[in-house]
Amino acid sequence: MSQQRHEELKKLIRHHDHLYHVLDRPEIQDLEYDRLYAELVQLEEANPSYDRSDSPTLRVGSAPLDLFKKVPHRTPMLSLQNSYSPEDLIEFDARIKKFLRKDNPVQYFCEPKFDGLAVELIYEQGLFKQALTRGDGAVGEDVTENVRTIRSVPLRLKGSNPPPLLEVRGEILMFKEDFKYLNEQQQENGQPTFANPRNASAGTVRQLDSKVAASRPLRFFAYALGVVEGKTFSSQQEIAEFLKQEGFPVAEEHSSLAENPDEVVAYYHKIDTHRSKLPFDIDGIVVKVNSLTLQEDLGLVARSPRWASAAKFKPEQAQTLVETIQIQVGRTGALTPVAVMKPVKVGGVTVTNATLHNQEEIQRKDVRIGDTVIVQRAGDVIPEIVSVVLDKRPTDSMPFLMPTECPSCGSSVRVVEGEVVARCVNPLCEAVLKESLKHFVSRRAMNMEKIGDRLIETLVDQKLLTRFSDFFRLKKEDLLGLERQGEKSVENILKSVETSKQTTLGRFIFSLGIRFVGETTAKHLADHFLTIQALQKASAEDLIAVPEIGPKVAVAVREWFENSKLNQEIDQMIELGVSIQGPQRSSEGPLSGKSFVITGTLPVKRDEAKDLIEKNGGKILSSVSSKLDFLVVGDDPGSKADKAQSLGVKIISWDDLQAMLT
Ligand code: IVH
Repeated sequence: MSQQRHEELKKLIRHHDHLYHVLDRPEIQDLEYDRLYAELVQLEEANPSYDRSDSPTLRVGSAPLDLFKKVPHRTPMLSLQNSYSPEDLIEFDARIKKFLRKDNPVQYFCEPKFDGLAVELIYEQGLFKQALTRGDGAVGEDVTENVRTIRSVPLRLKGSNPPPLLEVRGEILMFKEDFKYLNEQQQENGQPTFANPRNASAGTVRQLDSKVAASRPLRFFAYALGVVEGKTFSSQQEIAEFLKQEGFPVAEEHSSLAENPDEVVAYYHKIDTHRSKLPFDIDGIVVKVNSLTLQEDLGLVARSPRWASAAKFKPEQAQTLVETIQIQVGRTGALTPVAVMKPVKVGGVTVTNATLHNQEEIQRKDVRIGDTVIVQRAGDVIPEIVSVVLDKRPTDSMPFLMPTECPSCGSSVRVVEGEVVARCVNPLCEAVLKESLKHFVSRRAMNMEKIGDRLIETLVDQKLLTRFSDFFRLKKEDLLGLERQGEKSVENILKSVETSKQTTLGRFIFSLGIRFVGETTAKHLADHFLTIQALQKASAEDLIAVPEIGPKVAVAVREWFENSKLNQEIDQMIELGVSIQGPQRSSEGPLSGKSFVITGTLPVKRDEAKDLIEKNGGKILSSVSSKLDFLVVGDDPGSKADKAQSLGVKIISWDDLQAMLT
């Protein structure tokens, strides 16, 4: 009986995963999904003999590997002939016709060229068995455990009659938005950031701890087949259709058939103009002869098929001079080298600074002060130094070395074993202090609206700020003595300090800037401990007992609260009037079980509206989907309202929301 339920649950969750992660069209509430999932976990824990080989519970990652196994591909993963201009596509078509001795038009299947990491997924009897990187094309690396964590990779094919063997080829990538968020989190946690979405994806797939992979927002798109047993196809389009039927994400809306070379060129231009609006990076288009019979006739040249060609887009790049390399000291003491360049326009935006991430990255690219470099905008936003123009390197240039002393306080810098980030370990370092204070007052932390970065720098320089609690000791006279501070602005500053005193436990914990404790973790801690005093007293065991908290976070939190100076800071802030509101047991309330998204301008601040909804048991979602219960619209709503309307989501006003609370 329970074994039957186990199979049923796996199937149900698979179905909802597909709706959510592949089709972006969920049908059930998160809560309902979580319940099914919890039931599955429980069943599997109680019955270790049940078949977990296709279970979604395996997506959380497993024990780290020592090394990736090398595995030969059954049929080589080829490369593509590249060209850089649409004219080359016309030549490509001419070559094909000449080879085939054919005058009538050849039909092409055109797709975006995904800028990620090529992999092969192997399915036996419909079950996901293995994932290999492309490697050198002949032999790849076994990255099965990492790829299993990717929610858009089906663990079981959807079709009822699966081929005994199916090899699916495609690309692993990260959406631009997910990449941006990941880098923000990396920075927040004092971890190295990634140069672009492709590096982030490749680095994630090729690291040994699949738990890390599980925590990163990877995606998969399928575009080709390797060996298939028991099934044949006649065209590329048919393959794409089959992949979709079997549950794989394909670039359906962005692919297109072309009847002649002019249509191929038109496709190239269409995708190029569309490129920045796509949610993921692409670096060109791939054009494939649609007929598989013709593909066979055409065969290979060297390691590339004669029947396919990639036309790359001209990257948005420019050359400029590295004037200096500055070292920024972050809140966690992390030292980040930043290239300061002669301003240059790249794709319509003026670029001056580009992060060089860390010593390893500087060495790899060998960027030096005085170098002429090629910059491009990675992921369409962040400027990145691609390479050095060696011909233009001054003869007296020297490799850049990270300082061994903190540029701010002069303490020695430490590189922790196994990490690439160099850190200033002086807790009293002025740069670390300034960054910590900036974080403390920031919008999502204590939210002292009128206190900007410049003011903090001045106040620290003037020794008016040496610790968090000093904000609450600021006096009118102190501020009036500063340059460019009039009566009115001083009043506003003091008012925003005063307002910030009413805060929530989640915000307060987040604002302390404890390593690895981002906004979400802070919220989990608040929900669990309910008061700051309980958290202050929590032992390492108490902390690890919180489901969302791992040992790394537990140690960081413990260390922070073991510091008696920091603990005293908390007491003093409370004495100075900071009032920390513990979380309301929010699952109960007039809005419980209902989900909300807010759009447009409301009569109150966004965060206030969110707090109100959560306090009353409602849940805030980040985007509109069919599983959303209510869209709350204010003035000037954007496209979310249209989307909600088309999905049949209830649209309510601020007043309607108020009415629901009574
Ligand atoms: S088809 C050889 N389709 O291009 C033909 N490849 O140079 C089989 N790629 O490493 C590949 N997007 O990473 C194909 N829509 C697409 C593609 C694509 C990106 C990459 C793939 C491979 C490289 C081949």
